[in-house]
Amino acid sequence: MEQYVIKGGTPLKGSVNICGAKNAALALIPAALLTEEPVVISNLPDVSDINILLDAIAAIGARVERINRHKVRIVGATVSQLSVDYGYVDKIRASYYLLGSLLGRFGEAEVAMPGGCVIGARPIDQHIKGFEALGAKVLLENGQIKTTATQGRLKGNHIYFDVVSVGATINIILAAVMAEGNTIIENPAKEPHVVDLANMLNSMGASIRGAGTDVIRIKGVDRLHKTEYTVIPDQIEAGTFMFAAAVTGGDVTVKKVIPKHLESITSKLVDIGCEVMEYDDSVRVVARGPLRATQVKTLPYPGFPTDMQPQMTAALTLAQGLSTVTESIFENRFKYTGELNRMGAKIKVEGSSTAIITGVKGLQGAHVSAPDLRAGAALVLAGLAADGYTEVDDIKYINRGYENFHGKLQGLGASIVKVESEEEIERFKKMA
Ligand code: UD1
Repeated sequence: MEQYVIKGGTPLKGSVNICGAKNAALALIPAALLTEEPVVISNLPDVSDINILLDAIAAIGARVERINRHKVRIVGATVSQLSVDYGYVDKIRASYYLLGSLLGRFGEAEVAMPGGCVIGARPIDQHIKGFEALGAKVLLENGQIKTTATQGRLKGNHIYFDVVSVGATINIILAAVMAEGNTIIENPAKEPHVVDLANMLNSMGASIRGAGTDVIRIKGVDRLHKTEYTVIPDQIEAGTFMFAAAVTGGDVTVKKVIPKHLESITSKLVDIGCEVMEYDDSVRVVARGPLRATQVKTLPYPGFPTDMQPQMTAALTLAQGLSTVTESIFENRFKYTGELNRMGAKIKVEGSSTAIITGVKGLQGAHVSAPDLRAGAALVLAGLAADGYTEVDDIKYINRGYENFHGKLQGLGASIVKVESEEEIERFKKMA
């Protein structure tokens, strides 16, 4: 089993290039199936979630040609199957975006029902409500979601989401772009990747206005055509490296980013005492002196992202004073704090939504396990700041969303390696 081994204590210094956004790419790939013509997508991150989704669309008949590590050509003309295997949905929830795109193009789709996951129950009632409003019949049978446009083609409608959901917003956009007539989505998610999806679809001939605002208006079109599109930079990967700078007392420039997407993260870094300089497409974080405590609550965009909550908590373990972190999106996202406490942190979770953190002078290296993607990244950040060696197990979760995480950290001076055996760990400890 692959592990990361880290020798902590080195302030990170230098610059790092940020990849394309995983969560945007997960929506753009199903969107490419809305046309028979070829769609070329660049700046795809080489992470396992994306590679699994590409396998999933190939399995239903799409042609997937790798142009290079970060660029793919997708041809949807050959899609021959409208049912997506459970194996894919089990590995990545976002394969349920194929419901929206297959339903939108063919008037029919079947995808396994995604289960809950470690961070929460994650129901899909808003997706279903949206599909039904567009004139689809939705059946939940034997763990499958089967959906059919009752009149052959979906019909535009007015949809109000009861909760702000990134996934439901994306699925309904995918279904509605080729519906007959107009669709209005109220209370949609405003995340940058929702806007990215609308931009790519518009470049394919769709008519979507208002993505990124409180109301999205879609004028259904009869067909979409080919495009070449570049994925936006990954807000969460960038934020993770920004907090890596903070927690190690470093000086890091994250490059190839959109600073506007990072504003909530930047503002919290300033609160805890870091200096943050914004340039056109890069952001520099300098941490001098001890970090300061703060309060933070996760919220839908433009609020502080839930996907940055564990990394922020890791940094606050070393901030002077009492901090509180409130999780308002997922009901079970503090499990990893037990692992941080094993490294010497003082975190108390109250109920399931608030962590109270008493800053400590230092963390100590320990053997810990990544429970999920972002918590895994947070444990690596803690290891980079801790005294001694930290071993992080289950890095398959980290590989879901970070391309070459350890390589990029090494480029910033971190002492971290990916190992597969005890001998490799011993060798690293002798050399580090
Ligand atoms: C997406 C992101 C994930 C991020 C999350 C919140 C992708 C692939 N994943 O997940 O990384 O953590 O947004 O920013 O982009 N909900 C309902 N009913 C629904 C749908 C959602 O009650 O039908 C609830 C969820 O349980 C959760 C909240 O709404 O409490 C937000 O979830 P949602 O925005 O849908 O998250 P995902 O799209 O799954």
